[in-house]
Amino acid sequence: MIPRNTVDKIIETAHVEEVVGEFITLKKRGANLLGLCPFHGEKTPSFTVSPVKGIYKCFGCGKAGNSVNFVMDHLQLSYPEALKWLAKKYNIEVVEREITPEEREQQTERASMLIVMQYAQRYFTETMMSTDEGKSIGLGYFKERSLRDDIIQKFQLGYSLEERNAFTIAAVKGGYMPKYLAKTGMSILSNRYVEGKEITQSDLFDRYAGRVMFPIQDDGGRVVAFGGRTLSSDKKTAKYINSPETEIYNKSKILYGLWLGKKAIQDKDSCYLVEGYMDVIAMHQAGIENVVASSGTSLTVDQIKSIHRFTKNIVVLYDGDEAGQKASNRAIPLLLEEGMNVKLLQFPANDDPDSYSRKVTIQEFQDYIENNVTDFLYFKAKKLKNETKNDPIKRAGVIKDIVENIAVIPDNIIRSIYVKECSHIMEMEESVLQQEVNKIRRKTQSKGTSGTSTYSEQAPTAPPENFELIETETQEKENFLFDSEERELLRIMLTHGKALITIDAEDEDDTSHELEITLGEFVLFELWRDEIGFENPIHQTVLDEYVKEVSNQRLPDIQYFSASQNPLVSSFVINNIISNYELSSKWAHFGVHVNQEINNIKKGTQHLLYSLKEKKLHSYISEKQELLKTAKDEEIEAIQKEIMHLTQLKSRVNKLLGRIIVK
Ligand code: UTP
Ligand code: MN
Repeated sequence: MIPRNTVDKIIETAHVEEVVGEFITLKKRGANLLGLCPFHGEKTPSFTVSPVKGIYKCFGCGKAGNSVNFVMDHLQLSYPEALKWLAKKYNIEVVEREITPEEREQQTERASMLIVMQYAQRYFTETMMSTDEGKSIGLGYFKERSLRDDIIQKFQLGYSLEERNAFTIAAVKGGYMPKYLAKTGMSILSNRYVEGKEITQSDLFDRYAGRVMFPIQDDGGRVVAFGGRTLSSDKKTAKYINSPETEIYNKSKILYGLWLGKKAIQDKDSCYLVEGYMDVIAMHQAGIENVVASSGTSLTVDQIKSIHRFTKNIVVLYDGDEAGQKASNRAIPLLLEEGMNVKLLQFPANDDPDSYSRKVTIQEFQDYIENNVTDFLYFKAKKLKNETKNDPIKRAGVIKDIVENIAVIPDNIIRSIYVKECSHIMEMEESVLQQEVNKIRRKTQSKGTSGTSTYSEQAPTAPPENFELIETETQEKENFLFDSEERELLRIMLTHGKALITIDAEDEDDTSHELEITLGEFVLFELWRDEIGFENPIHQTVLDEYVKEVSNQRLPDIQYFSASQNPLVSSFVINNIISNYELSSKWAHFGVHVNQEINNIKKGTQHLLYSLKEKKLHSYISEKQELLKTAKDEEIEAIQKEIMHLTQLKSRVNKLLGRIIVK
């Protein structure tokens, strides 16, 4: 139990922006700070921290709380565990009274496993530093690989004795339960063990006997797994054995080196990605600390997201050999898709960062990295030009490859810059390249139209400048261009979404027939067809939730939303929809009245949809006209074409609008 005054002191000391800032990069936004939410995957920041209020709030997923809640959520700790984690970070002494056997009983399984891992790490280090075998074999090995003492200590390296159950015996003697030794994968159950029986020490033997040990930490610094390297050069022995996936070790989420490197990653606003444990360590020894390795798996989207929380810029370092190139090729599309800026650095053939760093001085190593980083697309484009000069078929293949890479970049501006630059390098028409990119994007977009993704990707989820936490009324003051239309649409969907209307649907053979659908589905379909998202983030959040429910075969209504798990959604709905839907003058203006016949609801909704579309088109056109003023000569024609296209669309919508006679 932690005494009350210590708790107060911890909360007072642990400033929310500082604690959160340990796990994501925050940028100033008015009185608040903004970053990428660590709790749900997002590419546009909607995670807001208010230092004044001492709280954080995500406008995408609704998570909110203070610094202790953040640590609890992010590191999956209980309340007292989170307090202790913070106390350690801020050097606050926690005088805890002895916990009772019942309290120990209640300790979560995860906590017990984490304690085993902490013990194991200390045991392996101790073994390496102070036993004869450890010193001569384990420490000897690291010395032979030129690791300095401070680095061996920093990475908490260790050694596991050759004796096949030395660790297991020591751990059980130390009071650690055999059950958790097995659960963490530190010990392996022998095949003599009978399922269902209580596990005892004699059922277990060590997983890592005779290996040097690399502890793997999560981004809170807790040891959650190990990699163990064999010292034998026998090809039949696996070079590395890694911990299995467990309750505390999610392989696809953990990055080796992130805990020790995240500060440097934030400071340098850039991250090096390498392949192995030794590469991360060698880079640190050479003074480069902003580095991580995916270690043991190929890079996953979750791992990319955890890098993205700190920086957008990544440099992929790979060996000169073919395997290295293949690995980096697999990672690149994923990185681009997540909106990362990708650079490449190739090492000379047969060298990885570790081996190369041992051949040159620290200064030479740093210079090599500095001077050989290239933007990956320029790198590819140049390679294309050189290698395929006289081979049109090969050339077509590489162009396709480059186009595929460009097409997955989510940011429109960055994508168009790449199109321009690559067409320049490859000496081909920009418009041809652009067309190819568009083709691929259309294909992938039409594939991914189900579910919520279309909506969440279309509209920004970022809260506006100075967005006030908790007090949702402030949204009213925000000046969004399409605010009233968006809100009216939501109002209709929530209050009349279940109403059935008849529409003209077209069959594949172009004949039309009448189809009965709900008003809610009709609105979704109309929005989806023109790829319209809502501009106001809270509107978009409600819409996202609506879509999610519909995709689960439910049409959510006002009752559903007013009890939403997301307090922002519920208060928005309560304040802006329930309170005035019955007597809204705007409602009447759009020709829809609660008790009026279905037909008018349909017309009113259509009217509203087309008004929104028209207004959006109008603003796109104005934007383009603005652009025209500063456009370069060679761009003018393309922009004019776009304006013409948009104007045609607008007049079509106008006509449709004119046809709807609202009583
Ligand atoms: P490498 O074979 O390149 O090893 O594997 P390395 O890191 O350069 O190690 P040294 O320099 O020979 O000591 C790269 C990474 O792939 C994983 C490990 O994470 C390793 O660091 N790996 C490799 C395994 O998990 N198991 C293996 O058997 C081999
Ligand atoms: Mn190596």
